[in-house]
Order: sequence, then structure tokens, then C-alpha cells
Amino acid sequence: MVKFMQLMNSIWNICGRDVVTAFDLSPFKVICDLGGCSGALAKQCTSAYPECTVMIFDLPKVVHMSREHFVSEAEQRISFYQGDFFKDPLPEADLYILARILHDWTDDHCIELLSRVHKACKPGGAVLLVEALLHEDGSGPLTVQLYSLNMLVQTEGRERTAAQYTALLAAAGFTNIQHRVTEKIYDAVLAHKET
Ligand SMILES: C[S@@+](CC[C@H](N)C(=O)[O-])C[C@H]1O[C@@H](n2cnc3c(N)ncnc32)[C@H](O)[C@@H]1O
Repeated sequence: MVKFMQLMNSIWNICGRDVVTAFDLSPFKVICDLGGCSGALAKQCTSAYPECTVMIFDLPKVVHMSREHFVSEAEQRISFYQGDFFKDPLPEADLYILARILHDWTDDHCIELLSRVHKACKPGGAVLLVEALLHEDGSGPLTVQLYSLNMLVQTEGRERTAAQYTALLAAAGFTNIQHRVTEKIYDAVLAHKET
């Protein structure tokens, strides 16, 4: 489990800054990283945005491991919440980050989770999806096609195009949906909850 978490962790040392700065997230002071795992992206957020705090929400076992191996008590702007994001109340926040979460799940599960996020989100808040985007015609990038194959084998999910993520977000009630391709494996999609 620690090895898997190290794998999840390492990519954000390479391209975490690019995804958290793909959009200006400075208006969002209270951030919740759903399925935030080892806290690598939370650390990128607190480094890029000195005024924000980040709550990492993950399963109890994962939170326990993160505390023990990855996030020290000295990280004063990072806190943890234990729970199941399909069942338990989600903490209220201005911005929810879902990094490599939706690619694990079917469209129906994604809409269910995004609807829960929309309900918990403060008016005027937003959700940031961090995923590897497929070209609209599915013709590439090759790395993302291979990730998608991996997801199809190991999970019930898949990689998706920007239009497919936009449709999921719109079905959950989000508006003003934009995406940015970073050219560094992972991309960003930002969507808002109306005030
Ligand atoms: C593919 S990992 C992504 C981790 C991290 N966001 C990243 O990009 O490095 C999926 C994460 O979602 C968490 N997760 C899966 N199901 C969950 C649930 N029902 N409730 C809360 N967290 C969950 C896992 O424990 C894991 O940390």
C-alpha cells in the first residue's frame, strides 16, 4: 500500500505545479482534495497559493498511512478527513480537487460523486478535475490510451475526453466549464457552482 501511495505521490513532484496553476485558484481559500491520498497535490496547492488551506479527504486506512509516512504535523495548512466520499458527509469547501478519481469510475458513479460535491460546495465555489485528457476523436495521446486500457482492466473506469468530463459535470449541476491541456501528462478541468 505504501508503494502504491509512493507511486501516486511521485508524479506530482514532476507535474503537480502545472496542474494546480493551469487555472488561477487563488480565489479559493478552503480546498478539499477528495481522494487526496498521500497529500502530494495538497502540498503543491499550499506552495502555489500561500493563503489556502487544504483538507485531504480519503478512506480511513489511507489517511492513517498518509499521516504515518507522507504528511508531517509541521504541514500546518493541511488537515485530514476520513470517510467514504460516496456515503459520508463531505466537508464544506470553496474548491474540491478530484485528481485521478473519476477515471476509476463509471459515468453513473461519476455523476453520483459530482452531485454530492455540488451539494457540499459553497455557492460561487468550484471543482477542479485533474485527469489525462484523450483527444476528442480518441486518436491519442498514446500514453492516455494506455492509461485507459489500464483503467479498463483494473477498475470500472476509463480515461475520457474534455467533452465527456464536461457532460458529467453539467449533469451534476456545474456550469462555466473550462479545460486546460498542460502538455505534461495530466490536464485540468474547472467547473463552477453558481452563486
Ligand atoms: C487513483 S488514487 C488518486 C490519488 C490522488 N488523488 C492522486 O492523484 O495522487 C484514488 C484515491 O481515491 C481514494 N478513494 C477511493 N475510493 C474512495 C472512497 N469511496 N472514499 C474516499 N476516498 C476514496 C483512494 O484511497 C485513493 O487515495
